[in-house]
Amino acid sequence: CGIVGYIGDKNVYPILLKGLQRLEYRGYDSAGIAIYNSSLNVYKRKGKVSELEAFVADKNIQGHLGIGHTRWATHGEPNDVNAHPHQSMHGNFVLVHNGIIENYARLKKDLTAKGFEFRSDTDTEVLANLVEYFYLMEEVEDAETAVRLALSKVVGAYGIVVICKAERDRMIAARMGSPLVIGIGQGEYFLASDASPIVEYTDSVIYLNDGDVAIVEKNSLTLKTLQNIPANFKITKVDLSIGDLDKGDFDHFMLKEIFEQPKTISDTYRGRIRPNQNDIVLGGLIDVFPKITAANRIIIIGCGTSWHAALVAEYLIEEYARVPVEVEYASEFRYRKPIIHEGDVVIAISQSGETADTLAALKMAKSKGALILGICNVVGSSIARETDAGVYTHAGTEIGVASTKAFTAQVTVLSLLAFKLAKERSEIDQEFYEMLIGEMLAIPEKLETILVGHPYIKTVAEKYKDAVNALYLGRGYLFPVALEGALKLKEISYIHAEGYAAGEMKHGPIALVDDNLPVVVVSAKDSYYEKVVSNIQEVKARKGNIIAVVTEGDNGLRKMADDLFEVPESHPAVAALLTVVPLQLFAYYIAVMRGCDVDQPRNLAKSVTVE
Ligand code: G6P
Repeated sequence: CGIVGYIGDKNVYPILLKGLQRLEYRGYDSAGIAIYNSSLNVYKRKGKVSELEAFVADKNIQGHLGIGHTRWATHGEPNDVNAHPHQSMHGNFVLVHNGIIENYARLKKDLTAKGFEFRSDTDTEVLANLVEYFYLMEEVEDAETAVRLALSKVVGAYGIVVICKAERDRMIAARMGSPLVIGIGQGEYFLASDASPIVEYTDSVIYLNDGDVAIVEKNSLTLKTLQNIPANFKITKVDLSIGDLDKGDFDHFMLKEIFEQPKTISDTYRGRIRPNQNDIVLGGLIDVFPKITAANRIIIIGCGTSWHAALVAEYLIEEYARVPVEVEYASEFRYRKPIIHEGDVVIAISQSGETADTLAALKMAKSKGALILGICNVVGSSIARETDAGVYTHAGTEIGVASTKAFTAQVTVLSLLAFKLAKERSEIDQEFYEMLIGEMLAIPEKLETILVGHPYIKTVAEKYKDAVNALYLGRGYLFPVALEGALKLKEISYIHAEGYAAGEMKHGPIALVDDNLPVVVVSAKDSYYEKVVSNIQEVKARKGNIIAVVTEGDNGLRKMADDLFEVPESHPAVAALLTVVPLQLFAYYIAVMRGCDVDQPRNLAKSVTVE
C-alpha cells in the first residue's frame, strides 16, 4: 500500500493526487483521501487512483492538510467501504495505514463489547476506533497520547498517518515495520511510504525508525518513541531523480525499464571495478569481506524475482568460490526453524528493501548470530538499514510491477560478489578473474544489440499471444532464467507459465507437451549445451513449439527451433544477464497484445509489506 500526507500553505489535493499516482505501483485495489477544510472530509473509491480523481472532480477539495492512500487489499475485498482513509466511529479520527494489525480480531471484539461499531472488514478501522477509544478516556488530553496508547496494544506492522478532527493543524505518523518518510519543506511537511511523492518539492527527508511517532505541524516536527521519549533522527538527502518517475517516450514503465538495462548494469558495476580492470571492490562490504571469505556457508533469501537472482548466485558462488550456498524463499525460511550457525553469512536480496517476509527472515537470522548482508535497490529501505553491511544495486527507481532492471542489477552485484569471493579464496587465478571482469564489462554493449532486435521479438510474440500454457526450460545458470522468464509471462499476461530445469521435464511437464504448447528453451554455448539439445528433441518428438534463446551463430539449434532469439556470445558466468532480456520483451509484447495492464497487473503489488 502507499501513503501520502501534506501540511503547509499549498493546496493539498494536487499534492495528494500526484503522490497517489506515484505510489500506485505499491497497490491499486482502491484509493482514498481525507482533506481538512471547513470540516474533515473523506473521499474513497474502489479501483485505481483515476477512479478517485473522477469521483472528486465536482467536489470542493480545497485545503492545506490531508492524507491519501492507495491500497493492496489484505483484510476485506477491495471495495469503497474497505478503502482507506478509515474514520473512527464517532468521527474524531481519520487514518491511513500500511501493514497488518495481527491482533485485530481480539481488539475488535473488545471494542465491540465497549459499544464500538464497524463499517468495514479491515484491520485499519479497528485501529481508528482503538485510537478513539483511548481519546475518549478522561485522562487522555490529546490525539498524540491516544495514538501512542492505541499502538502500544497493537501486534503487527504499521505505517500510519492520523488526523484528529479537533487538532486541525497537525498530523500524527507512526512506524513499525512499514516504511514512512517525512519530507522537509519550507513551512511545510510531506509524509509518504517512499520518497517518490516528495522529490519534486524537497530533497531533505527523514526515514522514520520502527517505534517512532512523529507529530507534524506546518512549522514544527517532533519525533518521539511510543514511550514518549524524544527519538533520534537523521536528515538525509533523497537518492531519487524525477526522471525515473516518468515514462518518457515509452508506452509503459516496464518497456522503459527493460531498455534502461545497459545503463543500469553499468551503473551497478561502475565504481566497483578498478579502472585497470584487475580487481572488484565492493565498498559496502570491505569491512566484512574477511568474514564472508571465511564463511562455512552462505544462505541467500528473497522473494519473487529476487529469489531467482539468488539462484543464479548459488550456481556462481558454488562453482567459482566453492562455498556451499543455500537459497530459500524468505517466507519459508522465517517459519521453518532453519539451522543457522554463527559464522554463516545470510544475504537478503530485495529490490524494494521492504518485503515483509524478507525483512522478518533476516531479523530472525540476525538474532541467531549470523552476519547479515543486504542487496537492495531502494536506498535507506528497511532491509538496507537492518543489515550489517550491504551493496546497493543502483538500478534507479523501478515502477513496473514486474521486475526487470532490478533483476539484472541484482545478478550483476551477485556476480561481482561471487567473482571477488572466488579470487579472495584463491579458487580462481588472477588471469581468470580479469577475464570474468572483462566479460561483465562487455554486457551493456551486448545488451544493446539484443534490444535493437525488439521488433523481431514482437513478431514472435504475435504468434504465441493466444497460448494458454507455456513451459520455460533451462539448465545451470539458465535454469533461474527459465524461472524468471516464466514468472514474467505469468505475471503480466496471465498465461499459465512454468519454469523448469530442463532435465526435470521428463518427470512431469512433458505430459503437457502437444502442438499447442510453446516451450521456451534458454541455451548458451556452455557445458550443458548438448543436454539442452536432447531436451529440445524430446519436445519436438511430441510436436511442441520451440522458441529458443541461443548464442549468435548457433546454427544447430536454428534448424530445430520454430523461433529463435539470438544473444551475443559470452562466458557462461554472465549469460543470465543477456538471455533474460529477450524473455522480458517476449512477455511484455504478449501482455500488450492481450490488452493486459502491463505496469499494474491484477492482484499484484510492487512492494509487499505484508506477509
Ligand atoms: C513482489 C513484486 C516482485 C518482486 C517481489 C519481491 O511480488 O511484484 O516483482 O520480485 O515482490 O520484492 P523485493 O522488493 O523484495 O525484491
